[in-house]
Amino acid sequence: MARRKLHTRLCDVLEIEYPIIQAGMGGFSDPPLVIAVSEAGGLGTLGGAVYEPDTLDAAIREIRKGTSKPFAIDLLLPDSLKDMEGISKEGLMKYIPDDYFEYAKELRKKFNIPDDFYSTRGGALWTSEGTMALIQVCLDNKVPVLAAGLGRLGDIMPECKSRGIKTIAIGANVRMSLKHVEDQVDVIVAQGYDAGGHTGNIGTLAVVPQIADAVKPIPVAAAGGIADGRGLVAALALGAVGVWCGSMFLLSPEATFTEGQKDRVIAATERDAVITKAISGKTMRQLRTPYTEIWDKGPKPPLGWPFHMLLTLDIVDYAYEHADQKEFEEMLVTPAGQATRLLNRRRTAKQIIDDMVEEAVTILEQGLPKTAQWK
Ligand SMILES: Cc1cc2nc3c(=O)[nH]c(=O)nc-3n(C[C@H](O)[C@H](O)[C@H](O)COP(=O)(O)O)c2cc1C
Repeated sequence: MARRKLHTRLCDVLEIEYPIIQAGMGGFSDPPLVIAVSEAGGLGTLGGAVYEPDTLDAAIREIRKGTSKPFAIDLLLPDSLKDMEGISKEGLMKYIPDDYFEYAKELRKKFNIPDDFYSTRGGALWTSEGTMALIQVCLDNKVPVLAAGLGRLGDIMPECKSRGIKTIAIGANVRMSLKHVEDQVDVIVAQGYDAGGHTGNIGTLAVVPQIADAVKPIPVAAAGGIADGRGLVAALALGAVGVWCGSMFLLSPEATFTEGQKDRVIAATERDAVITKAISGKTMRQLRTPYTEIWDKGPKPPLGWPFHMLLTLDIVDYAYEHADQKEFEEMLVTPAGQATRLLNRRRTAKQIIDDMVEEAVTILEQGLPKTAQWK
């Protein structure tokens, strides 16, 4: 079948065939997914925040071996990084109150995590220096696109521009998006409350047109609960020129997701994709688990970023390393957006993109579905 045509300004800016960006998903969007999406005509994005400088460098090489098309690296650059300059992971731990360490011990017992298990995960994500090292890897490799999943690209914009690196930043409201305008990023993602992962508090339908109006002429990609061609067409109607979709790709064989996680996403209903601070200390939408329930309903409120993650890393990582056992598999961090019932079948990344384009083009060519006839 001939390739369908669906071309917007986002395609020109990012040099891609279809206006579909696969969102950065740390721990879930690794080279196989990035390559598959970029090869299928979208923009694949590596969830780079969970990498270390050497593994990020290797991942970029792997992606370049797999595709000659543009791709993006997504990093987390929260404002708090500036306050953490010069502080090591061990130094950060000193800010965690003693009673929280006691509580973490109780949780270890409750979830059967052995006392002598310690996560071996590196420290790039937690520290200002680590994050700067990840940025440097992206700059040195002149990656096609750099995305800031949290925070601003401000100080590093000149470095990106001088190397021809395109930039994407996320706005969950107009105020934040105007900061990205100040930074002169190339694309702004207008992300609604509906999204999987870290979210803002305004719904996608309301936030996208407000941001699109406010940041003109910077192109906007809509995000949050968009998982099919109808969502893509709606995004275009709201003033966006494309979409940034995460959850939609989780059921593909190329995503780094266990079969159990896929089954749970497929089975999920509107009751399951909850907002919780249990994982990162920031509001994040993910499937409810016994572990999120403990923090959401338990006696202690989660700490802020990055302290909560540092405190609970051993528990979270033990579950990952023992995901072959049901009790731990069910604890796995499984971010997913509110489009839960649209996330209902396993398809390859290419099929997901082809289906989205086919449905969107059909609506655009034939008009609204019969149910929506207006005259
Ligand atoms: C599994 C998963 C992991 C995510 N991890 C990250 C991340 O590491 N960095 C980031 O900027 N956003 C992350 N997000 C948010 C996505 O980039 C994107 O904004 C979101 O998926 C859009 O909403 P949707 O899932 O409804 O499509 C994650 C989302 C999901 C579903």
